[in-house]
Amino acid sequence: MIYLDNAATSFPKPPSVAKAVAGVMEKIGGNPGRAGHKGALAGGRIMNRCRELAAQYGGLSSPDRVIFCLNCTDALNMAIRGTLRAGDEVLVSHAEHNAVMRPLMGYHDAGKITVRILPPDSRGMLLPETVSAAITPRTALMILCHASNVTGLIQPAREIARACHLQGVPLLLDAAQTAGTEDIASVHADMIAMPGHKGLLGPMGTGLLLLGEGMLPRPLREGGTGSASESLRQPTMLPDRLESGTANLPGIAGLAQGLSFVLSHRAAIAEYEHALAYRLRRSLERIPGVTLHTGPAELPHVGVVSFNIQGMDSGEAADRLNRAGIAVRGGLHCAPSVHAWLGTSGAVRASIGPFNTEADADALAEAVKSMIQ
Ligand SMILES: Cc1ncc(COP(=O)(O)O)c(C=O)c1O
Repeated sequence: MIYLDNAATSFPKPPSVAKAVAGVMEKIGGNPGRAGHKGALAGGRIMNRCRELAAQYGGLSSPDRVIFCLNCTDALNMAIRGTLRAGDEVLVSHAEHNAVMRPLMGYHDAGKITVRILPPDSRGMLLPETVSAAITPRTALMILCHASNVTGLIQPAREIARACHLQGVPLLLDAAQTAGTEDIASVHADMIAMPGHKGLLGPMGTGLLLLGEGMLPRPLREGGTGSASESLRQPTMLPDRLESGTANLPGIAGLAQGLSFVLSHRAAIAEYEHALAYRLRRSLERIPGVTLHTGPAELPHVGVVSFNIQGMDSGEAADRLNRAGIAVRGGLHCAPSVHAWLGTSGAVRASIGPFNTEADADALAEAVKSMIQ
C-alpha cells in the first residue's frame, strides 16, 4: 500500500514512537500525578518531557501552558467553548474545518454568538487588511485555519495575528495541517490547536492546545487532577485546570518521540514534503482531464494536493485508487466551506508525509493517467 493520506493521520511513524508507546504499556505501572511511587513518577517525567518539547515548538513561556487533548478537534473545542461568551462575534476564514465550524454554528444557531466568514482574495488567501476591516467592538476571537486541508494553501498567519493584535483581538490558530512542518512559534498566535497524530508523528488519540500569555479558557471537563484534592472546586492553575482525569500516557510518550523527531528535522521535512507535492502537482497537471485545486504554485503550500478527474465522482476515483493500492481520500474532507469556495462537491486528496518517496508520487500520477485512458 502506498500511503498518501497523511493529512488524515500520518503513517508510518518513526520507530521510536511505537517503541515509546509499547514501553509505557510494558514497563510503567502508575498514574502520573496520582501517586508518589516509581511508576507514577516515571509517567510524570514523560508528560513533562512532552510538554517541554511542545512548548519549545510553540514558543511558549512555560510548559504548563501546553494542554494534552484527544486530537485537534478536542483542542479547538476547548479553546472555542472555553473562551466565547454570549453576545460575542467571531471571525473565521473561508477555509475552516468542521472542527471549528460545528462548535461555532451550534452557538450561532442558538443566538448566542455571531459568526462572520471572511472572504479570501481570488487566489484563496485571506488578507490581513480584510481582517482589520472586519473587526468590530464585539469581535472576541479570530480563528484561522493555518493551511487548508483541501487546497494546502498556507495563510499569512503572522500578518493576520498582527492585524488582530493591533485591535486587541486574540487569534486561535488551527495548525492541524501545519504542525510538524511550519514555524508555528513565529505566528505569535494566542492559542494554537494541533493534532499529535498528523505532522507531529505521534499516535492517534493525541492533540495539543498551546496557550499564549493571558489565555485561560474555562474547562470543558472538570474532575480529579491529582492536585489540590482537598478542594471541591476545579483548580485554576494550568495545566490542571484543563486536564481532568487520567491522561493518555502511552499516546503522550509516543507524541514526545514524534515531537523530538520533528524538532530535529523540521526544516528538512518541510522542504522534502513541499518538493514531493510540487512534483505530484506537475505530473497531475500534465494529464488532460485532471483539475487541480491547489491555487497558484508560487504561493506557500503544505504537502496536500487535491484534484478531480473529469466525469468521475471523487469518491469513486478515490475508491479505484484505494483498490489499486494507493491510499487517498475522496469527498469533502470535513471542510464544506472551502469546497463551496472552490465550486466543487468533493475532490480526491493526496497528502504527503516525511516517509513518502518520489516513486509514491509518480505511482499516483501513473494510476490517475491509466484511469483516464
Ligand atoms: C484543518 C483541520 N482542522 C482540524 C482537524 C481535526 O483534526 P483531528 O482529526 O485531530 O481532530 C483536521 C483534520 O483533518 C483538519 O484538517
